[in-house]
Formats: sequence, C-alpha cells, structure tokens
Amino acid sequence: MATTKTTVDRLRAFVGQSVTLEGWVYKTRGSGKIVFLIVRDGTGLCQCVVEKNDETASFFETAKKLSQESSLEVTGDVLADERSVGGFELKVSHVRVVQSAADYPITPKPHGIDFLMKHRHLWFRSHRQWHILRVRATVVDQIRRFFNDDGYVLIDTPIFAPAACEGSQTLFQVDYFGDPVYLAQTGQLYLEAACMSHRKVYCFGPTFRAEKSKTRRHLTEFWMVEPEIAYASLSDVIDVSEAFICSIVERVLRDNKDDLVALGRNLDELCAVQKPFVRMTYSEAADILRGPKAKELLERDLEEKTARIGELDAKIDELDATAKGGGKQWQKDKASAEAIDCREERSELEEQVRNIPHHLELAANFEWGSDLGGSDETIISRLHDRPVAVTHYPKAVKAFYMREDRNDDRLAECFDLLAPQGFGEIIGGSAREEDLDRLVARMKHENLPIEDYEWYLDLRRYGSVPHGGFGLGVERTVAWICGLKHIRETIPYARMMGKFYP
Ligand code: 4AD
Ligand code: MG
Repeated sequence: MATTKTTVDRLRAFVGQSVTLEGWVYKTRGSGKIVFLIVRDGTGLCQCVVEKNDETASFFETAKKLSQESSLEVTGDVLADERSVGGFELKVSHVRVVQSAADYPITPKPHGIDFLMKHRHLWFRSHRQWHILRVRATVVDQIRRFFNDDGYVLIDTPIFAPAACEGSQTLFQVDYFGDPVYLAQTGQLYLEAACMSHRKVYCFGPTFRAEKSKTRRHLTEFWMVEPEIAYASLSDVIDVSEAFICSIVERVLRDNKDDLVALGRNLDELCAVQKPFVRMTYSEAADILRGPKAKELLERDLEEKTARIGELDAKIDELDATAKGGGKQWQKDKASAEAIDCREERSELEEQVRNIPHHLELAANFEWGSDLGGSDETIISRLHDRPVAVTHYPKAVKAFYMREDRNDDRLAECFDLLAPQGFGEIIGGSAREEDLDRLVARMKHENLPIEDYEWYLDLRRYGSVPHGGFGLGVERTVAWICGLKHIRETIPYARMMGKFYP
C-alpha cells in the first residue's frame, strides 16, 4: 500500500490513510501481544500501536524491545482517537529502526536539576522543555514583529564595548589585542545615538552581566530587546511598553495555547493582561510595602503554606505505605513517583515558609532610598493582576543616564515593569538625561571616566532632545508567560555563575 511521509502535526489530513513518521521513541509500554510506542518527531507526540499478527511478525519483537530515544521510521494507518496524545493514533504496519539507543540517561523517574542541566543537550527532548522553547520562539518572533510593524529601525549594537553602562560591578572583561574591553551589558548608549538619526530604533541580542547572584532571575548571558525613541517622555515610553507586552501575551495565547496548557499555566491570568497597566511611584510602592496589605498578604501566605505542608506530610506517609505495601508493582511505582513529587513540593514550601518572616521584616522596615529587593517586587506584583510600572526611583539607585526629575531632584524619570503573579521585573527603562551639564555632573558624581564617553556626550551637544526607551529581558518574560519559577529553562543553553557546560 502506498504511504506518504508526514509529521505528527499534520496527521489530521491523513485519517484513514497509511503514513510514515520519522522520529524517536519517547516512551513504550506493552504486553505479550501489543506494544504502544509513544513516538515524538519534533512536531508532536503520537501513539503508535503494534499488534502481534502475521503482518507485524517480522518486527514485533524488535518493536517490543525498542528503548527510549531510539530513532525509527514507523508506518501505519492513521486513526482519530481523542483519548490518544495529540488526538491521533497509528496502527503500525512497519517499523524500521534507524539507531538503537541504549541506556538513555534521562529516564521517566525524577532527576535533580544539576543532572538535567549537565544533560541539557538531551534534556531538550523532554516534553516540558520542548514546550518552553516553542513559547520562547514565538516571543522572539513577536518582539521583532511588534517593532518592525511599528516603524522602528533595527540597529545592531556592538558586543565588544569600551565602557560600562549598567554599573561596573557586572562587567565581563575581555582582552582585546592588549586593551581591556567588556562584553555589552546593554546596547542602549549606541541606540541613543541611532535614534537621533532614525527617530524610532531597537536592538535585540545577547547581553552579558557578571552577576554573582545565583537567583532564579539572573543569567550571565541573556537576550534583551531595547527600543529607543527620540522626542519621547517617560509616559510615552511606558505606553509603548504596555502595548508591547499586550502584543506578546496575545500572540502567545493565540499561537501557543497548547504549550501553555501542557505547562500548566493559568490562562485566565494571562488573559487579564490588558491595558492600562497599574502605574505607581516608587514612594507609593514603599508605602504599600510598609502598610497593612503587604503584611496581610505574607501572613496569609504563611498560614496557607503551613497548612499545605501538613497536607503533604499526610499524603507522603500514605504514598510511602503504598510503595512499600503488597500491591501491584505498577501501583507501587506510581506511589513512589508521586511521593518524590510531594517531597519536592514540601521542601520548596518549607524554604518559602522559612523566608516569610524575613520578607515581612524587609517590607515593614523598607526605607525610602533603597532599591526594591526581589521579595519587595514580589509583594507589589502579587497585589495586582496586571503588570505594575513602578516609576520615579531615587536616582542614587539607578543608572547615570536617567533623566533627573525636574520637580524633585532626588528622583530619576524611570520605571521598572513588574510582571504579575509575583514574578517581578521584566522591563527596566527611563527618559534619558538630555542636558549636557546635568549629565556630566552626574557622571562625575559616579566617578565615571568622562573621556570614555565623549562620543555619548556629543549627542547632548548636537541637537539634543528628550528621548527614552527600555529593555525587556526575554528569559524573564518567557518564564513569567510559561509560569516557571526559574529562568534557566527558558534559554537553550543557560549561562550562570559556575555553569557553562554544555
Ligand atoms: O533594568 P536593566 O538593567 O536595564 C537596562 O539594561 C537598560 N539599559 C535598558 C534600556 O533602558 N534600554 O535590564 C533590562 C531588563 C531587566 O528588566 C530584565 O528583564 C533583564 O533585562 N535582565 C536580566 N535578565 C536575566 N538575567 C540578568 N542578569 C538580567 N539583568 C537584566
Ligand atoms: Mg533593572
């Protein structure tokens, strides 16, 4: 019988026909007379059913022994079956093994994160990782589309940079034929020059920060998109960030709903991301942190999380008993796998509960003038179901290029956009100081070597205008949209302090 090569995402068009899929064995199970091969082919999963009969006799035993991640071509009739993963099933008439894989290291049982990160080159194939990187690809595409469709000109900025922009603490130094240069922390200063030529510009590329913090929000190499706009005020720039975030969320909801569902993301929370976002000043945020709402939130957390730990304790005891008991082997395996998940959840909750008193104290004693910490951002963003733009931070905690507030010279005309559900900062931006004297004074105050920035100061000498922009971190955005706790899974090969393999 004639057969067509196709891919899992196209099976719908072939119901009742024979097709050939090229893929890898994701999982298998079976008994004496029937084998179920879950095959993945890069576009999805498909259950392929091999029944023992005359037609399959020549390969049935081979199929039965196929190990995880062996590569194969599988031919069979396509059946629509709602109960099957992906909604279709293949009734197999032929199997050709391309390569037989022995002892694939990532098995269905849970592995520690260090093990998985070291096996990132294989971990890619796991379904969760597959979903996350598909969402990332859409986010990246929408970023480009948003700016290209709105008349922004792409300006590629250099990665070798002669000077710091976001503080000297996080610079990676490189030997450039004997001279020290740094890996770019941002393309912003170069964009400021370009926006005086093209009005609306953006850059998009890898960015480097020697972050010595091992937090869930920090990578040493991450992707940042930065628009920069001439004749824009802080409020104009925040408007752009709102429209931009809405367009990304809308696009992912449209094109990657299945991925989000598979990742367990609450879609209602994403649908609630609508304009206008919340805007509050830093001083208002400080009041909230010290006020009753923040305290109530954390105290309620403490209660709920403690109660959940109690529930988990009871459940773990029950599962352990089943795992050790006299039931069927599959029941025991299932119970021990569930017990591992419960223990993981419990240890995470225990850590959170341990931290709550500290976070309560930090919030209650928040002092005007200090930067918002991670836990402070979490509180502010959890109190709202839309992104929150926190504006007008004390200029002492922000970068030198930010415009001084003409009504209060303690403040910078800047904003951080905090993603909801406690996620925290995904965008940082500002109006830029366009006045030469104020900028130079600020740079001197920060002890910056003025001579390295002469070209940048030229922008204030020749046709200086108000302008501004922001930077959005791709990985933090993907983590928030996918509902992930840590950003390390949102980039194909994460680079963090002490981690650069493979
Ligand atoms: O707030 P940041 O440092 O702002 C800038 O770099 C400005 N020059 C942007 C501009 O105005 N053109 O960084 C912007 C965003 C953050 O909000 C965060 O999403 C991301 O970049 N980011 C990081 N992401 C992962 N790991 C890190 N170490 C990050 N540092 C910043
Ligand atoms: Mg920032």
